[in-house]
Amino acid sequence: MPRGSDRAASIVISVTPAPVGAATAVLGIETSCDETAAAVVAGGREVYSSVVTSQIDLHRAFGGVVPEIAGRAHLQLLPAAVSQALADAEIDAPSQPPDAVAATAGPGLLGALVVGLSAAKALALAWDVPFVAVNHLEAHLYAAFLNGAGQSIPSLPMIVLLVSGGHTMLIEMTAHGRYELLGQTLDDAAGEAYDKVARLLGLGYPGGPAIDRLAAEGDPEAVRFPRPMLADGLDFSFSGLKTAVAVHLRRHPATDRAAQADIAASFQRAVVDVLATKTLRAAEDRGISSLCLAGGVAANSELRARFEALGSQDYQVFIPTRAMCTDNAAMVAAAGWHQLQRQGASPLDAAPNATWLIPTT
Ligand code: KG4
Ligand code: ZN
Repeated sequence: MPRGSDRAASIVISVTPAPVGAATAVLGIETSCDETAAAVVAGGREVYSSVVTSQIDLHRAFGGVVPEIAGRAHLQLLPAAVSQALADAEIDAPSQPPDAVAATAGPGLLGALVVGLSAAKALALAWDVPFVAVNHLEAHLYAAFLNGAGQSIPSLPMIVLLVSGGHTMLIEMTAHGRYELLGQTLDDAAGEAYDKVARLLGLGYPGGPAIDRLAAEGDPEAVRFPRPMLADGLDFSFSGLKTAVAVHLRRHPATDRAAQADIAASFQRAVVDVLATKTLRAAEDRGISSLCLAGGVAANSELRARFEALGSQDYQVFIPTRAMCTDNAAMVAAAGWHQLQRQGASPLDAAPNATWLIPTT
């Protein structure tokens, strides 16, 4: 191996890109965190199949995702997920394989990413079709391009609010593959704040959906929690809000469900106020009227309702179906199809990247 090289292997195999077209069916694989998912999507839009196997029960006892357990579970669960996705899509591999295989290469848990990435490379090699290494954040954004529930294709440029368990970002998508990062969280991600507050309320893991449900029973004006950095720019901060909830609970323990529901609703109102205000500020700053929600927190009822209401004003709003907001492989296949069109296949020695940010201009 040459001195200074960080390559462990000297053999680099790359497959020749096949011509891609609207009918190109891509097998997507997602294993970045605690969902083992496979899906087939045609033309970056039409979902032929989508299988998501949740590992929640394996991690619940630990109050969060255990990376070692996640990696091992992906190894066990992925073959069945892929077989099911192919069967649901009526794809008869290996005699008639999909036209390409795309997998999440990062960001995410390294030991989890390796499983999906290796499986995708092996399948692409065996079937002699292109392999595409996809960025998980970019994949979340492509959930809005899937054809769920009569969705129209998002019009560009658009402002994307990408809110997940690990990231909170405001992005201007100017064209396919072209992103400008306008703002991001300076500490906790929005989903992380949901998960931490859920733990404070004893709601367990995963916290976002639990708070969402409980908040529906509470009064969002019961406690006036801070709206961090509301007046400043396009960056976010959520760790102070989480601390404000902790301090409140120390002074006023929520002993019954009604009190817990008021706190959940008040916390959620604060988060949604901040997310919506900053998204609108970005849209106004940039003179853009097309808005898009993406990421696991985009499954949140109040956030969706707030954005839907903007749609009846001067904005065009694109919100993926709930199932496509949280981690899934259809969004990976969609992003993979677009990437294949733009830049062709990825090399088969593409490495997983635990901290890969969305490729920005
Ligand atoms: O995008 P995602 O599935 O995984 C990551 O890439 O991080 O996002 C997971 C995050 C978790 O923090 C989870 O609590 C949150 O999304 N989440 C929600 C809801 N559903 C999932 N947060 C608020 N309301 C929900 N309904
Ligand atoms: Zn995600």
